[in-house]
Amino acid sequence: MKEENLLPVYIRSFGAWIPERRVTNEELSRTVDTSDEWIRSHTGIGARHLAEDSQATSDLAVGAARSAVERAGMDMQDIDCIVVATATPDYVGFPATACVVQQALGLKKIPAFDVTAGCTGFIYALEIAMAFMKDSHMKNILVIGAEKLSSIVNWDDRDTAVLFGDGAGCAVISSEASSFQLEDRSSRKFTRPGIIDSVLYTDGTGYDSLTVPAGGSRNPIRGGMVKKEDVSLHMDGRRVYNFAVKAVSDIIKELAERNELSYDDIDWIVPHQANSRIIQAAAKRLKIPLDKFFMNIEDLANTSAASIPIALSEMQGKNLLRPGDVVLTVGFGAGLTYGGNLFTW
Ligand code: ACO
Repeated sequence: MKEENLLPVYIRSFGAWIPERRVTNEELSRTVDTSDEWIRSHTGIGARHLAEDSQATSDLAVGAARSAVERAGMDMQDIDCIVVATATPDYVGFPATACVVQQALGLKKIPAFDVTAGCTGFIYALEIAMAFMKDSHMKNILVIGAEKLSSIVNWDDRDTAVLFGDGAGCAVISSEASSFQLEDRSSRKFTRPGIIDSVLYTDGTGYDSLTVPAGGSRNPIRGGMVKKEDVSLHMDGRRVYNFAVKAVSDIIKELAERNELSYDDIDWIVPHQANSRIIQAAAKRLKIPLDKFFMNIEDLANTSAASIPIALSEMQGKNLLRPGDVVLTVGFGAGLTYGGNLFTW
């Protein structure tokens, strides 16, 4: 990818909203047959944040949207479109969670819709929003990843209960990027921020390895006793694990190769935070130093479509992103979907 081909769309800011209630592994092990030692050694997770019963995914999304817009120094009324990536919508089917978010943010006469691509949702949503922006008059779009996974976790199932958390992250993407000051970084390939490229894939043969069995059109709930396990998340962990290590490695390799970037040219890799072992295995396969991968799974667990924008928001807050940095995101999840985005900050 050459500088002149850089798309005229860039990420202006990130924001996040994390529920206050923090549940450590120790606390969880009082009610679930597990231990801090098992969870840490198998996943890298130390705690998760859980939303209140009264909060829905849209409430988390609104918090993240406000945080991102404030950081961008913009007015909410400047927003032209809302895309929400979620696997845990406020309602089954309709209305879309994005519509509830639009109403809460006081925005009128703009498109607002959801994207469902499991934990890869944010990566899909960013690419969709970018395509939308290229071919329209839109100037600013909110791309949100928001999840209340605690609402679909069976807290009696130790295979899944320990893995997930709630939260939301948001990116403001805008057109018309201006050049940035490169300071001393004359070796940089790009001199302005912009979205460079994305790859999106699905391997539908694995659609049944991560499901919520009931409540949809295949198995609707029509009266009678609803069993908790039928409306909870089921996962073939080992199958998803093996898929994920290959998916993460393949996406990083493909995005780097087709944009003629060496791994040294990439400043940060921001992976979906599902399991630190998956990230370590992919880093080892590609011989990329682990410190190039941003990880915050220890405190937040797996927040599905929200994990990547939450991570990016934390990085922005900690000033880890510097003008000119080349950032690669990579995700995988139910579907089985996988993909990545490449952008300069
Ligand atoms: N506490 C204690 N023991 C447990 C727990 C637990 N929470 N969960 C499972 N075990 C036990 C099992 O019962 C099993 O015991 P056994 O050997 O006596 O039968 C043993 O631990 C090993 O179980 P495995 O399932 O083989 O453990 P594994 O090393 O595969 O780790 C894990 C499981 C963490 C789920 C792993 O497979 C994984 O991370 N998979 C990928 C999951 C993922 O990435 N999901 C997200 C993608 S999509 C999305 O984000 C929505």
